[in-house]
Amino acid sequence: MTNLKHLALLGAAVVPGLALPKAADFLDSRQASVFPSKFEWTSTDALVGPKNDGRGIAGIKDPSIILKDNVYHVFASTAKDEGYNLVYFNFTNFKDAGKAPFYYLDQSSIGTGYRAAPEVFYFAPQKLWYLVYQNGNAAYSTNPDISNPKGWTAPKTFYNGTPKTIEDRLTGGYWVDMWVICDDKNCHLFSSDDNGRLYRSQTPVSQFPNGMSEPVIAMEEKRKEDMFEASNIYRYASGKYLLLVECIGSTGRYFRSWTSTDIAGPWKPLADKESNPFLGASNVKFTGKQWTKSISHGELIRTSHDQTLSIDPCKMRYLYQGVDPTVDVSYNSLPWRLGLAEHKNPAC
Ligand SMILES: *[C@@H]1O[C@H](CO)[C@@H](O)[C@H](O)[C@H]1NC(C)=O
Repeated sequence: MTNLKHLALLGAAVVPGLALPKAADFLDSRQASVFPSKFEWTSTDALVGPKNDGRGIAGIKDPSIILKDNVYHVFASTAKDEGYNLVYFNFTNFKDAGKAPFYYLDQSSIGTGYRAAPEVFYFAPQKLWYLVYQNGNAAYSTNPDISNPKGWTAPKTFYNGTPKTIEDRLTGGYWVDMWVICDDKNCHLFSSDDNGRLYRSQTPVSQFPNGMSEPVIAMEEKRKEDMFEASNIYRYASGKYLLLVECIGSTGRYFRSWTSTDIAGPWKPLADKESNPFLGASNVKFTGKQWTKSISHGELIRTSHDQTLSIDPCKMRYLYQGVDPTVDVSYNSLPWRLGLAEHKNPAC
């Protein structure tokens, strides 16, 4: 629809007083048309939860997923009242995901202590896997072999401490959910402050992981609930990017979405309302019972492993965290589980 409207405008542009739409606007509106104006998803039941293995984990959270040679590799947070760490597991079929053995990453050089919200990708220029996560700072570990979970290096950080731009705005919030995506020239590091802001730093691809710039505010909202945390940024076509941000709605967590022709923005609204979300309880039909009202922190299954974080907008599957809404315990003790939402794109 947007295409036709712009074409009509272009045709009428000779009329005096009617501003000619800029070519960039025209391209900008076309890019979103691979996405429907309304998203509809189906979801599985809860597939993966904590194991009864003496670790006392309350929730499995914040999954990052890679599909490589028909094996799904998942990195996730382990949550309990005492704190967070990370877990790795793999499987070839989602119906077996719940049976996959857990490798707790505190057994690798990643070590014990606060580590959470991982993102995994292969940084092709260095032939290394990167695991990006939070440890109070924005941290990363590397590994030449994703199948060897013991091979992850000790945490290093992207910044010396909390960048001033974030520190100055953090009262009442938390600095969380780091996310790296690279284009041909730069690698960008996004993070959130649970306080209404999404931040972005960058460094040349040739310098990554060093040299991250002082962050800039990529997006912000007056109500922190409308720009909360857990951002995902993907490349969905050449020079086209999708931004998802997890927000707090009236009945639970949901995702807003935007598109851009540049990772540095500006971002144009796609489905960006609780009443018309990218992904949330209001547009997910469950194949079993509705086991969660929150569709929370996770990620789309990509079509590449590399730093470009490419996805196919025609075949979107989102691995998310959900939670039984009737359980009433402290936030870190919530029994989060992982479920898979699948999108049928009528535009494809
Ligand atoms: C799956 O995970 C185990 C650790 O639990 C690891 O030893 C194995 O190499 C992984 N398999 C693949 C195919 O990556």
